[in-house]
Amino acid sequence: MNLISISDLSRKQIIEILDSADSFRDRRGKYSEMVLSGKSLAMIFEKPSTRTRVSLEVAFRELGGHALYLSAGELQLGRGETIADTARVLSRYVHGITARVVSHNTISQLSENASVPVVNALSDLEHPLQILADLMTMRQRFGRLEGLKIAWVGDGNNVCNSLILSSAIMGMSISVASPPSYKPKAQILEKAKSLGGRIRLFIEPTDAAKNADVVSTDTWVSMGDEADEAERLRVFGRYQINANLMELASENAIAMHCLPAHRGQEITDEVIDGPQSAVFDETENRLHTAKAVLAWLMK
Ligand code: CP
Ligand code: NVA
Repeated sequence: MNLISISDLSRKQIIEILDSADSFRDRRGKYSEMVLSGKSLAMIFEKPSTRTRVSLEVAFRELGGHALYLSAGELQLGRGETIADTARVLSRYVHGITARVVSHNTISQLSENASVPVVNALSDLEHPLQILADLMTMRQRFGRLEGLKIAWVGDGNNVCNSLILSSAIMGMSISVASPPSYKPKAQILEKAKSLGGRIRLFIEPTDAAKNADVVSTDTWVSMGDEADEAERLRVFGRYQINANLMELASENAIAMHCLPAHRGQEITDEVIDGPQSAVFDETENRLHTAKAVLAWLMK
């Protein structure tokens, strides 16, 4: 089994993973959890990372295993060895592979050619590990997922795509506000609809945020989008989670952001550091959900 898209998981499997993540959180530091003792994990990174790299490495270590950070540029991959051969070779050494890739096609090729579980640690299309942490955070705050109203404000990017799919799987509705040229991908919207998703697309952030339980966003300029930075900064100006926008959401609404944040752009200091922010719980939950996923796939 691999985790390439969040939609690789059923509702039941997501709940199992979230329950396990809750238990890892409660037991952390009190009990030894060496369920992956003697196992090794290859972590390939084609792009920078703080949270994903550290949470995976610490998670794997606390489960008794050894994780190897492999910068793609320092592998023979950077000199033209194929993805397929890299997947076959690593499968002879390690018990699992995670990869953060520029193109989603790379993670698909890795998973097709590896004989050990492969986990998407972010591609241009999806970020399933992030979304498991987001779901854990929402469940902590509201005690449930079903029926929650999610608002996404900003770029219809990888994180947004996985959030849309997870909303469909978990019975949440989602309203996405993005500039017309930065809507979520049609293939994601179709897939989410086929899973029963209730998705509404807006142009104005205020329309999406109205009565929402969760208001979430991400950078205006994702890794790989730097060439369009000037245009993006111009177009995304009003796609910001600020106190005025949070006023429109439900009384107990929370603000979320996968981080890294560009404070003063997509989110204000006032919100990210304020009482409605769930951002740093969300970031902590990357660790607990990473453990749950790794144990689930590799035990
Ligand atoms: N949220 C997230 O994936 O952060 P990193 O890019 O630091 O891993
Ligand atoms: N959308 C962002 C997420 C970073 C965690 C990116 O792809 O750069």
